Amino acid sequence: MSDKLQFQDRLLSLGLARVSEAAALASARFIGRGDEKAADQAAVNAMRDQLNLLDIKGVVVIGEGERDEAPMLYIGEEVGSGNGPAVDIALDPLEGTTLTAKDMPNALTVIAMAPRGTLLHAPDVYMDKLAIGPGHKPGTVTLAMSPSERVSALAAAKGCSTEHITVCILDRPRHEDLIAEVRSTGAAIRLITDGDVAGVMHCAEPDITGIDMYMGSGGAPEGVLAAAALKCMGGQFFGKLLFRNEDEKARARKAGITNFDRVYTRDDLVKSDVIFAATGVTNGSLLAGIKRDPGWVTLETILMRSKTGSVRRMTYKTPVR
Ligand code: FBP
Repeated sequence: MSDKLQFQDRLLSLGLARVSEAAALASARFIGRGDEKAADQAAVNAMRDQLNLLDIKGVVVIGEGERDEAPMLYIGEEVGSGNGPAVDIALDPLEGTTLTAKDMPNALTVIAMAPRGTLLHAPDVYMDKLAIGPGHKPGTVTLAMSPSERVSALAAAKGCSTEHITVCILDRPRHEDLIAEVRSTGAAIRLITDGDVAGVMHCAEPDITGIDMYMGSGGAPEGVLAAAALKCMGGQFFGKLLFRNEDEKARARKAGITNFDRVYTRDDLVKSDVIFAATGVTNGSLLAGIKRDPGWVTLETILMRSKTGSVRRMTYKTPVR
């Protein structure tokens, strides 16, 4: 059986959910404790342990950093039992370390798996991101448009006025002009302090989340994870790598990237079928956070497969050990 066929195994997706759950479970005792590093380390250890139980020949392509910076789940690390399909793994054991440490909304554990060679090896640089939900024609919005043109174009496509559009943006000084321009259209802005994977995913379910579009720069690795999520949920994503210096360009070259001006679509970032799992750590509009009751912990996980377009929300309740 080819790697691609084996990859479709449904049990593999359940295994991925377990990996995501394990990372969340491990970070639970660090929620609201002000220690970002400890929360992240606990999630990394647990994710790695669970990942190594899966029957895959996995390679981490989006991970905790370069080998010399990250002792575990570094880019290039081989994971899994070594038996099974050759796959690329993109992960963020704790997306929103600060959100977790401060007990603020939308911290997640995130992991995506796809056949080997099909996820972009994004360097750890910024990416200019733009996302909208499903049901719109290609070209409805583009990165080449100005922020206000994007708002007007999406409002026209939705048949509403710009006042009825809500854009999600990371609250950063670098986004001052972007925020001012979007506000000038009359659109609302949901500012988030961290966690743009969740920010982008919100666009896929605008009726539930109230968010129509995501704009602004954030981590390129998170861009690949967000594209994987939208490939399963539906929606358009565009990303362009942003370089602040020669060192960042060197990182990109090392990852095999030569065209520094390329605009990547969702399907350029994730070229094939993908499985995606995310588990809520702190409460959010997408997923419930970890609930701790005496003797029990309850987690919510979203598990999705792009091939079938299936989106499962699963509750996992386990005794505290
Ligand atoms: P961490 O989970 O590593 O803290 O990253 C959170 C995050 O907010 C990402 O979601 C986002 O892509 C990136 O940081 C933004 O980077 P910066 O904080 O430099 O603006």
